Amino acid sequence: MAANKHDDSVIEASKAIVASLPPMKDLTTDNITENVHAINSQTPDPRLKYLLDRLVVHLHELARETRLSTDEWMAGIMFLTSVGQICTDVRQEFILLSDVLGLSLLVDSIDHPKPPNSTEGTVLGPFHTHEAPHSTLGSDISSDPDGEPCLVVCTLKDVSGKPIEGAKIDVWETDSKGFYDVQYQERDGPDGRAVLTSDKNGDFFFKAIVPVPYPIPHDGPVGKLLKLLKRHPYRPSHMHFMFAKDGFDPLITALYLRNDPFESSDAVFGVKDSLVVDLGKVNAEQAKKYGVKEGSALIEYDFVLVTDQEAQELREKKAMEAMKAQGRKMKMWKGLPIPDLD
Ligand code: BEZ
Ligand code: FE
Repeated sequence: MAANKHDDSVIEASKAIVASLPPMKDLTTDNITENVHAINSQTPDPRLKYLLDRLVVHLHELARETRLSTDEWMAGIMFLTSVGQICTDVRQEFILLSDVLGLSLLVDSIDHPKPPNSTEGTVLGPFHTHEAPHSTLGSDISSDPDGEPCLVVCTLKDVSGKPIEGAKIDVWETDSKGFYDVQYQERDGPDGRAVLTSDKNGDFFFKAIVPVPYPIPHDGPVGKLLKLLKRHPYRPSHMHFMFAKDGFDPLITALYLRNDPFESSDAVFGVKDSLVVDLGKVNAEQAKKYGVKEGSALIEYDFVLVTDQEAQELREKKAMEAMKAQGRKMKMWKGLPIPDLD
């Protein structure tokens, strides 16, 4: 067997780090937290330092507060291991975990705050892909013969009502059985998804199928967790939208159908009243204009994007309010809060 040898430069660098630290021995339940903080505090990145400090404080507090047992923590580690092990290119169990814990929605609300006159965001979910074809306006995004045809007609504006031309709009939905294309092992290519571009009036429109309720993937560790918690895995009928345009804050959102059985108990907490729409019917004029059957299903919505600057100002304002409420002296660094130690 070849002899192992550690890299000499690592031991020298490690000794130098030891020399700059206070001794850490005989640590107790009472002082372990501050010592871990001390050793993590050498990073020159103040945001990383702050995030790690709070992560360790809250993790340690969880253990102290609940008197966490070794068996429970090992069960937690095994659970996280299984979440990682089931992940593939098309299965993202960590996003799912973040979703069912309400963390995805919370982070989106914090990082993409919306003024009242703009479109709210919601969870991305694990089924957005980068392989959707660029489609022309009016295209049919679904090849499902069993789906109920649905015309989708939307506008895209800024908060002053000015149309936004040339925005990249990803749309995606399940088929009529409640599965995304990537959930089929054998598939010919993308389906139920497209990338569109808003026209000079800020309009965009496409043909799709009426969304149906469906369960989030629940055959893995997250599904097991939901079962233990006596929670159901269903999401209400919805269609996803993602907007990107230079100068505007990216918007990830979805439209939900009113009166869905799961409208007020989404497994991933994504429903907001402002995103709930009535399923309408195509009138004669629309039927002619868009080349669809009169009386077929219709979704109409006016989306409003905020500029990067508007989003950043609101983000900073809310960050400062939150920090003040916690009684902390903070300052902004690269647009994110860090402790103000001066
Ligand atoms: C979705 O809507 O695609 C979704 C969102 C969160 C978890 C699973 C699926
Ligand atoms: Fe979805």
